Amino acid sequence: MARRRVRVRHHVNPLRVQFLAPRPATLTLPTDREVEAELGCADAQFLFQRAPHHPDKLFIGLEIREPLVREVNREAAALGVPNLRAIYCNLNVDLPSLVADGSFSRVYINFPDPWFKKRHQKRRLMNDELIAVIHRKLRVGGELFFQSDVFDLGLDAMAVLEDATGLFANVNGPWSFARHNPYGARSLREMRCEDRGMRIWRMCYRRLGA
Ligand SMILES: C[S@@+](CC[C@H](N)C(=O)[O-])C[C@H]1O[C@@H](n2cnc3c(N)ncnc32)[C@H](O)[C@@H]1O
Repeated sequence: MARRRVRVRHHVNPLRVQFLAPRPATLTLPTDREVEAELGCADAQFLFQRAPHHPDKLFIGLEIREPLVREVNREAAALGVPNLRAIYCNLNVDLPSLVADGSFSRVYINFPDPWFKKRHQKRRLMNDELIAVIHRKLRVGGELFFQSDVFDLGLDAMAVLEDATGLFANVNGPWSFARHNPYGARSLREMRCEDRGMRIWRMCYRRLGA
């Protein structure tokens, strides 16, 4: 599937005041089919690869860079991918009220953060609050898949998830990374890392019934 690349700012600071006002809109999702979400989808390459193989599911990309959101939706329409949609939001502010609890069957966090310096830790996507929200938004038994090429970020994310006792179980055993990405789709960042032979740290957690 040939896709255009739009030029947008590389990073935005999610703590900037323009991103902190919660958006009131609540997204109504179908209840008769599975919904998978990628948090921080950028160009949504991962979802564009996955959606055509699962026409029975809905794929939602959540992204803070609005021009990318517009472009993903334009391309989904142009390429005839009706089960893929991108939504503009600041996950750390908007996700709690964006969708009903139990909406997602799977959540992907693919290469979430440019903020790997300790002094930028507050800007990071993954923290205790977000994990508690993801737990609510996943249905019982749903999956959270995380991958990063930065070992420290992977380890910090794993620490948050392993500490979330009773909320998630590591599919590969406590404190264990997953060997590969089993979803038949690769994000743009993932493809670039693999092309350069870089190591990727992946983990998969199942949402427990608490
Ligand atoms: C490093 S990129 C990875 C993009 C894609 N998942 C991939 O693997 O190619 C991280 C993405 O997360 C988005 N992002 C970061 N913080 C966010 C937030 N608080 N809310 C929504 N999107 C966010 C960024 O704008 C960026 O597009």
